[in-house]
Amino acid sequence: MIATTPVIVFSSCTDACRHVAAEISQLIRERETLGLPTVLGLATGGTPIPLYQELIRLHREEGLSFRNVTTFNLDEYLGLDRDHPESYWSFMHRNLFDHVDILPSNVHLPSGIVSPSEIPAHCQAYEDAIASAGGIDFQILGIGRTGHIGFNEPGTPADARTQKIHLDPITRQDAAPSFGGLDKVPTEAITMGCGTILDARRIALLAWGDKKASIVKAALEGPITNEVSASFLRNHPNATFILDAEAASSLSQ
Ligand code: GLP
Repeated sequence: MIATTPVIVFSSCTDACRHVAAEISQLIRERETLGLPTVLGLATGGTPIPLYQELIRLHREEGLSFRNVTTFNLDEYLGLDRDHPESYWSFMHRNLFDHVDILPSNVHLPSGIVSPSEIPAHCQAYEDAIASAGGIDFQILGIGRTGHIGFNEPGTPADARTQKIHLDPITRQDAAPSFGGLDKVPTEAITMGCGTILDARRIALLAWGDKKASIVKAALEGPITNEVSASFLRNHPNATFILDAEAASSLSQ
């Protein structure tokens, strides 16, 4: 099957991130002019770091303000408190929030230390908070080697909402170097579901490097299947794959 989802290929991830940051910046400024907040869905991993660097540059050098921005992150490891260096809370503060003027009360991530009995209520509260913020205007995604978006590992249904999941062995292996060993990588996480993600009004999936080429091809040209969560994006009316040349190198068109 040939992908109908828009795909934009850039010669470098720096150029790609400039393009995505410009779109986000325009959205924030337009909505601010109308007196409206902007709700961003944010991702972790190495992929969005150059995007966050460009947003920080736009804040410092071009007056882009995040005072009117609310954020919801995709996911968090279960078992890590906020101060753990590998928590996504730490990641987001280190790589973005500490460097812009976002209000701390507008930052949302699932908790990594919620007790098992409280997880369903915590997940429902996360869904409710997204809904009461007005839904996600712009969702940034990376893609795991299992094809996951957020932490929606193979087998997660398209309509799943925020929930606890078990991490795939491949995902845990990929995380092992930054944790200093596989045994230190959590086995579970809380993630927005595919249904939560697909409710966003605009989605940009970012992928760089030849390590992502085969899963990007599977997501765009293989069957739309819960074996590759990112393939569900082809059913979204306003999702774009933003790739560098290496990540796009296996695509047939
Ligand atoms: C983790 C995150 C995903 C991210 C993926 C890819 O699993 N939960 O949101 O897309 O890593 O990471 P990287 O961007 O480092 O390849």
